[in-house]
Amino acid sequence: MRMIDLIAKKRDNHVLTPEEIKFMIEGYTAGDIPDYQMSAMLMAIYFNGMETEELKELTMAMVESGDQIDLSAIEGVKVDKHSTGGVGDTTTLVLAPLVAALGIPVAKMSGRGLGHTGGTLDKLESIEGFHIEIEEDEFAEMVNKNKIAVIGQTGNLTPADKAIYALRDVTGTVQSIPLIASSIMSKKIASGSDAIVLDVKVGSGAFMKDIKHAETLAQTMVNIGKSVGRQTMAVISDMNQPLGRMIGNALEVKEAIDTLKGEGPEDLTELCLTLGSQMVYLGKGANSLEEAHEKLIDAIQSGAALEKMKVFVEAQGGNPDVIDHPELLPQARYQFEVKADREGYIESMNANEIGIAAMILGAGRATKESELDLAVGLELHKKIGNPVAKGDVLVTIYADQEDVSETINKLIENIVIGDHPQDITLIHEIIQ
Ligand code: URA
Ligand code: CA
Repeated sequence: MRMIDLIAKKRDNHVLTPEEIKFMIEGYTAGDIPDYQMSAMLMAIYFNGMETEELKELTMAMVESGDQIDLSAIEGVKVDKHSTGGVGDTTTLVLAPLVAALGIPVAKMSGRGLGHTGGTLDKLESIEGFHIEIEEDEFAEMVNKNKIAVIGQTGNLTPADKAIYALRDVTGTVQSIPLIASSIMSKKIASGSDAIVLDVKVGSGAFMKDIKHAETLAQTMVNIGKSVGRQTMAVISDMNQPLGRMIGNALEVKEAIDTLKGEGPEDLTELCLTLGSQMVYLGKGANSLEEAHEKLIDAIQSGAALEKMKVFVEAQGGNPDVIDHPELLPQARYQFEVKADREGYIESMNANEIGIAAMILGAGRATKESELDLAVGLELHKKIGNPVAKGDVLVTIYADQEDVSETINKLIENIVIGDHPQDITLIHEIIQ
């Protein structure tokens, strides 16, 4: 088999066979196929797409290019949730204890990475003593006992995806739905979950800017999951503004605690109940999404979800008193207020730019070397559609520096006040 023939085949819009896809991924991972040939193939896929059968093979070839996590020591159906990435997305911190409170095992593997705020791991580390250095057998025991544990990413997962993603980044082939879908799904499948819930974000703060593309991406990922025997569901949710009110690390831990108490922001609560219902249903904790939804509300109202958060924090060395006393979390030295300069209604918020406003305070990493400041971030007092009077506080800035003019300017530029009220839809669609 020769790579040049496969490139020509895909260029002419034919379907590659499983053997051809395997040859290509194995050859590229081994270094036998050069970047320039893989680049040409990626561009051919960008223009001509891939069929479900090809995508299944591509995804599994990437899964098999590296280690695969074995979660079989953990009892029950292991359901993982993946978000395509948004701003101030606090859902994992809420969902993990909420779903575990219903007896569904949450065996979470989490990374750090770049972004507006740290990852789930960074956020949890704002709880004094919390650590994720757990041995694999201890991790399984913890999940069997408490139904919840978080561990740092281990092993060499999907090296083929890593190499291909880096190549796509420099060849104009990132924005290809089949390539995005197989990339995301390969990582989820290699991490060992039996079932997968996807939160596909759409809007100014998301990878997908319009509903049509978000729908196609979600459906493509659901089809891949099903074709390889992993039950998969997806939610398409709005990311035209940050989720919830808090953007930061310790601030989002506090927001998660509030939400587990039933006192969280409406949008974050609704999204967690929607994603949580899918997790509980796929985890066989309920016979329908509606039943799962009711059980989750009960877990919040009875205090079971909050109690699970305490058990989880304590099991991983953290101080559980933080749950009842969030003031024990790291606190920023200074607070500043950004106020409305006119009356009206919040018309738009550029979620991505607001995320950057938080990142430059130190809430997120701009480069791998950046140091996080867990205490800093933003609290949004108004969201799209809310009425505002002149002088109302729009945002509180929590900072450890005295000069926050760059953050203030970004917020003023990217929160637009208009004349008319409007509605915003949070959950656009459920795909199953
Ligand atoms: N995230 C991924 O993991 N892969 C992509 O291709 C795009 C976003
Ligand atoms: Ca938030």
